[in-house]
Amino acid sequence: MLDRRQFIVGAGAALVSAGAGCADTCNARSIAPVKMRSNDPQSALVLWYGQTGHTQRLGRLLGKTFETEGLQTTVAPLRDFDLSAAASFDLVVIGSPVHYMDVPPNVVDRLTKLPSLERAPVAAWVTYGNKGSNPINTGWNLVELLTAKGGVPVGMSAFSNMNTFAPVLTGSGAKRTLRFKHLPDAETYERCRQFAHEMLKRVRANQVTAIDHEFDFSGMLTAFKPMWWSKKLIGEHHVDHDVCVKCGACAATCPVGAIDPAELLIDRERCILCCGCINNCPAEAVRMTFMGDTVIGWPTFCRDHHIKVVEPPELS
Ligand SMILES: Cc1cc2nc3c(=O)[nH]c(=O)nc-3n(C[C@H](O)[C@H](O)[C@H](O)COP(=O)(O)O)c2cc1C
Ligand code: SF4
Ligand code: SF4
Repeated sequence: MLDRRQFIVGAGAALVSAGAGCADTCNARSIAPVKMRSNDPQSALVLWYGQTGHTQRLGRLLGKTFETEGLQTTVAPLRDFDLSAAASFDLVVIGSPVHYMDVPPNVVDRLTKLPSLERAPVAAWVTYGNKGSNPINTGWNLVELLTAKGGVPVGMSAFSNMNTFAPVLTGSGAKRTLRFKHLPDAETYERCRQFAHEMLKRVRANQVTAIDHEFDFSGMLTAFKPMWWSKKLIGEHHVDHDVCVKCGACAATCPVGAIDPAELLIDRERCILCCGCINNCPAEAVRMTFMGDTVIGWPTFCRDHHIKVVEPPELS
C-alpha cells in the first residue's frame, strides 16, 4: 500500500520553491520512483469542476492533446462522471478553480468518493484569478486528494486567467479584474498542451513528481474560513421571480444542491458562496448584495466590458 506522504518534499524545499516564485506551470522535481501501474498509457480520464468555463476549457484542451498522442481520452465534468470507472484509466487528471484560496469543498467531497486508483499516474490543474491567492498549494492539495486514493503524482499546473469572483466581493474593484481580461491567451493554451505532453513523458519514464507546497501567506488565511466570513456579509441572496425565466440553470449548476429546483428558494446555510447561480443565470434574476453593494455576475460583467474569451483552435 502506498503512503501518500512519500511524495511530499520537506518544508525546507517548500520555502526554496516559494523564493523561486513558482509561477504558472509547476512540474516539481522528481523523487524516488514508485512503480506506476503502467508506463505505456493507452487511456486518460480528464475531469473538472468549474462554474464559468475556464477550468473546463483547459480540461478539454488537455483531452485533445492526449488524443494527438494516441490515447483514448474521456473528458467530463466531475459531477457527471461515474467515479467507479476511474480506476480503469492509465492516467487520471483533475481540474478545479481556486475558491477561497483552496480546493472547493464540493470537489474535496467528490474526490473522497473515488475508488482506489491502484498506482495509476495522477495529476491536477487549477485555474485562478490573476493575481491569485494560493494557487500552487491548492493545486498540490488537489493532487494529494488523488494520491490519498493510491495515485502516483506526475504533475500539477496552475493557470491564471481573469478573475470570475465578482469584483465587488474582491474588495479591489473592477479595475484589477480588468487588468487580466486578456487571459487566457495563446500562451496559456500552449502551456496547457505542454503540460499534457510533459505528463505523458513522465508516465513513460516512470518519473514521479514530488508534491511541493510553497509558502504563501494568503494560504494561511484559509484557517480563518474566508468563505464563511464572506457569507456573513452577503445579503438579499434570492431569485427575483419577476425576472426569472425558470430555465433551471441555477439549481442545476449549484454544486451543493442549495437551490430548490421547483421553488427556486436558496438554502443559505448549505450555500458555499461559489457564485455559480449568479454567474450562470441567463436572465440576471439572481440577486445578491455584499456589504450593501449589488453583486454582478460574470456574464453581465463581461457583457458590460465587451469581453469575450478566445477559444483555443482545437475547441472552436
Ligand atoms: C467564489 C470564488 C472564489 C474564488 N477564490 C479565488 C481565490 O481564492 N484565489 C484565486 O486565485 N482565485 C479565486 N477565484 C477565481 C477563480 O479561481 C478563477 O476565476 C477560475 O479560473 C474560475 O474557474 P471556472 O471558470 O472554471 O469556474 C475565485 C472565484 C470565485 C467565483
Ligand atoms: S446557492 Fe449559488 S452561490 Fe450558493 S452554492 Fe449554490 S450556486 Fe453557489
Ligand atoms: S438561472 Fe436565472 S432564470 Fe434560470 S431558473 Fe435560475 S434564476 Fe431563473
